[in-house]
Amino acid sequence: MNQTSSAIEVTGLTKRYGNMTALDAVNLSVPNNVMFALLGPNGAGKTTLIHILCTIMAADEGTAFIGGADIRRQPVQARRNIGVVFQEPSLDDRLTAFENLDFHGRVYNVKAAERRQGIDELLALVELEDWRHAVVRTFSSGMKRRLEIARALLHKPKILFLDEPTVGLDAQSRAGIWSYLDILRRQRDLTVVVTTHYIEEVENCDQVAIIDHGKIIADGSPLDLKRQFGKETARIMPRDAAVAAELTQKYGCLQQAKDGSIVVDAGAPGFADGFLAEFGTRIRQVSFDTPSLESVFLTLTGRELRDRGADEHEKRNAAARRGRRS
Ligand SMILES: Nc1ncnc2c1ncn2[C@@H]1O[C@H](COP(=O)(O)OP(=O)(O)OP(=O)(O)O)[C@@H](O)[C@H]1O
Ligand SMILES: [Mg+2]
Repeated sequence: MNQTSSAIEVTGLTKRYGNMTALDAVNLSVPNNVMFALLGPNGAGKTTLIHILCTIMAADEGTAFIGGADIRRQPVQARRNIGVVFQEPSLDDRLTAFENLDFHGRVYNVKAAERRQGIDELLALVELEDWRHAVVRTFSSGMKRRLEIARALLHKPKILFLDEPTVGLDAQSRAGIWSYLDILRRQRDLTVVVTTHYIEEVENCDQVAIIDHGKIIADGSPLDLKRQFGKETARIMPRDAAVAAELTQKYGCLQQAKDGSIVVDAGAPGFADGFLAEFGTRIRQVSFDTPSLESVFLTLTGRELRDRGADEHEKRNAAARRGRRS
């Protein structure tokens, strides 16, 4: 079977680490030339899925086609179709930007003239021309990420995988990475697959799959997901526990945060008027939200994505980076 109509076709992909099921019968279809986001909390299975699709890890069950190539039967062809930016930095710190790219080009048998031209174009795209001959050790985290993106594209892949490309970066660098990805998608014949646990980042993607505990729990455009699973919500800070209990009894509780605030479904007609008339004097604060991807995640999982996992994840990554630098 040659599934050339989609960039990626995944059917029933399952991966276990011992007794732990990291991917549970994952099905996915990613069309050509889209920006596709795989959104999920810490430990959801994002990296496991990317590693399998990049053919560096074998699945226990299921099939996947990458640019029409079966990852099991045609791994070399599948690999030729892809570029990868791994979650963990993988540049050689002792080499210059140019040397890192040039080495990658040689490994992929990119011809000398093409290599030179590609390196010039890509360094310009990620705004690193002036650092061409600087040793990568001196680069900021954002500059290293940009160089990794350039490197992943040097052999002209059809599909670019990026595993949490923006984690640990400041807001400006994160915005920069997304703007390069957007330019790439428009300029080149490229499908971009990005994993992230930053919900706000996937708002502008064409298609989003939400993964939790190794299962794809929803898949569609951000608008589709919001229409299907989004809720108008109210986040209420009750005055005391008695009011909290009364609120929960009346409206149910989508989520209770550690600070004591309660999120309820505010979609019913006239909710705000009725709520304020009854509870207005017995609450400290209330804010109303239109359907958002946060509310989609909350509806589907009963948890907030940025609850605990994301911050822990950042701390761990920052510690790992510090460790490597010293
Ligand atoms: N080599 C391994 N051996 C055992 N368990 C593993 C291994 N790699 C991952 N896991 C477990 O499998 C699950 C999925 O991990 P994975 O790294 O794919 O998640 P992730 O979504 O990429 O998480 P993160 O946001 O931390 O990058 C986690 O529970 C993780 O602890
Ligand atoms: Mg990961």
